[in-house]
Amino acid sequence: MNTYAKRTIWRKENAPTIIQVIDQRRLPHELIIVDIHTCQEIVTAIKDMTVRGAPLIGATAGYGVMLACIEASTHKNPNEYFNQYIHDLRESRPTAINLFWAIERQVKAVEEGKNWQEKIEIASKTADQIVEDDIEVCRMIGVSGLPILEKIKQAKNGEIVNILTHCNAGRLGCIEWGTISSPIYQAHQQGMKIHVWVDETRPRNQGSNLTAWELTQAGVPHTVIVDNAGGHLMQHGMVDVVFVGTDRTTRIGDVANKIGTYLKALAAFDNKIPFYVALPSSTLDWTIRNGLTEIPIEERSQDEVKYIYGWNGTKLEKVLLTPITSNASNYGFDVTPARLITGLITERGICEANENGLLSLFPEYK
Ligand code: MRU
Repeated sequence: MNTYAKRTIWRKENAPTIIQVIDQRRLPHELIIVDIHTCQEIVTAIKDMTVRGAPLIGATAGYGVMLACIEASTHKNPNEYFNQYIHDLRESRPTAINLFWAIERQVKAVEEGKNWQEKIEIASKTADQIVEDDIEVCRMIGVSGLPILEKIKQAKNGEIVNILTHCNAGRLGCIEWGTISSPIYQAHQQGMKIHVWVDETRPRNQGSNLTAWELTQAGVPHTVIVDNAGGHLMQHGMVDVVFVGTDRTTRIGDVANKIGTYLKALAAFDNKIPFYVALPSSTLDWTIRNGLTEIPIEERSQDEVKYIYGWNGTKLEKVLLTPITSNASNYGFDVTPARLITGLITERGICEANENGLLSLFPEYK
């Protein structure tokens, strides 16, 4: 097992219907493992972002459906209970397509069960399989993406390769390897000199809290920067490549990712810096084309903008940043048009961000 192989979700030892996750709201200051007992607790964990990141949201939803089958089996109206739960789960977060992908995969599988006992068995296996698949898919994203870093290293005669990233598309957003972190970990393991610029990613600071924590754990050199610094660094030759994740990518290669990603793509384009998006195929939405008009963008509480959490030396503290009466807006994601993207890094290789490029790797969607 490699040194970075620590999962973000698993079943509790000797209690396999209890799901355990890392509480991502407490990192990097406290590593707290949460027990999830019920399917409604799964919905809450996704909504309040105890777990987050498109692939992990999908995996968590997979276990939600498993718990829903267990609970439905003893309910007086099992079908009604199950269907209401699927509805609630679908409402938990709107943008990451992996949520809906995992629910559909589970619902389709469960339909094959002739009774609730069979449905529970099928849902358990499918939930575990979603997790195992994500691990292998993310490992393969690393295999696909590593040559990008190798080429840059060669062009720089072995000097440090500087990668800029936004939000957290590392292992905390997935199960084990992460998407953008997979080529980074694989490069680091083979001794390549790399350095990561980590956008702090306001308002929830997934960069400074989560990506920085992960890279610290893995021993990868990195520097946290404010969200507005990337353009300046690019203008001064301090960024060789941008790697970001995605919550939903359309058939023509438009990419929704954490708010602020679009501005990084614009700056990279202006400075002729390659801008890659790493994604498992479960993040592709083949049913839509125009990301700007067709991807639902989550709007979250204004309190996430008005307040900030930090460590006061003994505990996490919530502090007000703005005048208490000011209004704040909190769009969670933006869409980067395909024309600004150098390539999509998938488990099947790298392709251009357009329909032909995607279909060359995934011909089954022609
Ligand atoms: O709101 P979040 O933290 O769930 O948003 C996560 C992101 O935008 C990630 O970049 C994306 O899900 C890719 S995770 C591999």
